[in-house]
Amino acid sequence: MKRKTTLLAGLFLLMLAAGTAAAQVKPLTDSLYEALAPTPPMGWNSWNKFGCNVSEELIKGVADAMVESGLKDAGYEYVVIDDCWQVSRDENGNIVCDPERFPSGMKALADYVHSKGLKFGLYSCAGSYTCQGRPGSKGHQFQDALQYARWGVDYLKYDWCSSDGQNARAAYQTMSEAIKAAGRPIVLSICEWGENEPWRWGEGIGHLWRVTPDIRAVYNGVFDWGGVGVLQCIDADADLYPYAGPGHWNDAEMLEVGNGEMTLDEQITHFSMWCMLAAPLMCGNDLRNMDRQTKEILTNKEVIAVNQDRLGRQAIRFMDMGEREIWAKPLADGEIAVCFMNRGETPWKLSYNWLDQTMYFARDVNFRKYEYTVRDLWKHKDICTSKDRLEATIAPHGVLMVRLRVR
Ligand code: GLA
Repeated sequence: MKRKTTLLAGLFLLMLAAGTAAAQVKPLTDSLYEALAPTPPMGWNSWNKFGCNVSEELIKGVADAMVESGLKDAGYEYVVIDDCWQVSRDENGNIVCDPERFPSGMKALADYVHSKGLKFGLYSCAGSYTCQGRPGSKGHQFQDALQYARWGVDYLKYDWCSSDGQNARAAYQTMSEAIKAAGRPIVLSICEWGENEPWRWGEGIGHLWRVTPDIRAVYNGVFDWGGVGVLQCIDADADLYPYAGPGHWNDAEMLEVGNGEMTLDEQITHFSMWCMLAAPLMCGNDLRNMDRQTKEILTNKEVIAVNQDRLGRQAIRFMDMGEREIWAKPLADGEIAVCFMNRGETPWKLSYNWLDQTMYFARDVNFRKYEYTVRDLWKHKDICTSKDRLEATIAPHGVLMVRLRVR
């Protein structure tokens, strides 16, 4: 009898504990979820440089380097492991990380990243398999989201391989519901390469959405299968400016600064234009081994401030003269960022009269509204006012990026 009572009491306590644990999962409200990316997310992702060669040691080294190199100070915060961290599911269907490459497990790794004042991200896929044939989340979305929440994940890149006829909007909606139900704020990066026009339905479901196939570190050319260069990313994103804003961003792809074959001018153009486009800034290089120039590009705070401007507007292609383009991004407090981009093979001898602007005042781009000081954001120098002509020579594949400051 006594034994029976003890058993019953034990059972009661167990139920109570389970009840308390369940009660602790407080779903995230829609408004909290949607407020997770007021400016474009900034961080690092393993894929562009390391592919499947990911490990605990690499991620810790990158987190250390993000702090020591000054990238954290410049605003970068997410450290994201892309494909290949996962190997199987256990007998209960829980996703299992590669025990050889991540011997301490994901919770310990997330704790390490958090201890550096940074945030931790993972990759998964809406299909049954990821693009590298690892287990995807189809049929396990809510279980996986709970696991991510337990591990301390802050960012999920969610891919679209082996999606087998699923409806994209519904598939991404399911994962966003799963994240909310798991109760932890997790930024959702929609990665279906722009195939189903996610800019038309992604707001409220995810916080950013890719608009192109995978980027390759070439400026002008097409590389590998389906790969696109920097210019193709810019062109694919150009007309999508109405869809970007606080909480929901067009993702022009991860950065290739410090990787591959681009010249210094091309890398500066790449970074400048991602900032103009209010694109997420996810570094794709080896942060542990950066040369001075790479570091200077990635940490240019004046250029980053254009990307992170609180108004959250994406630049418009204000003038298209073939190989020469002028882009303009309205900023808070009446300021404007302007980027002169030379796509051509010869230098652009620029002599620009701000007061000539007569035709196009749409979307708050009006160079005559105030009198401005014109500041070169790569030279960190005020170079003229908007009453003067702007005289400059822009290298082939280069830019002149300025900020118009109200005087
Ligand atoms: C797709 C994505 C890439 C990367 C790989 C990983 O190709 O678009 O960014 O995540 O999968 O397999």
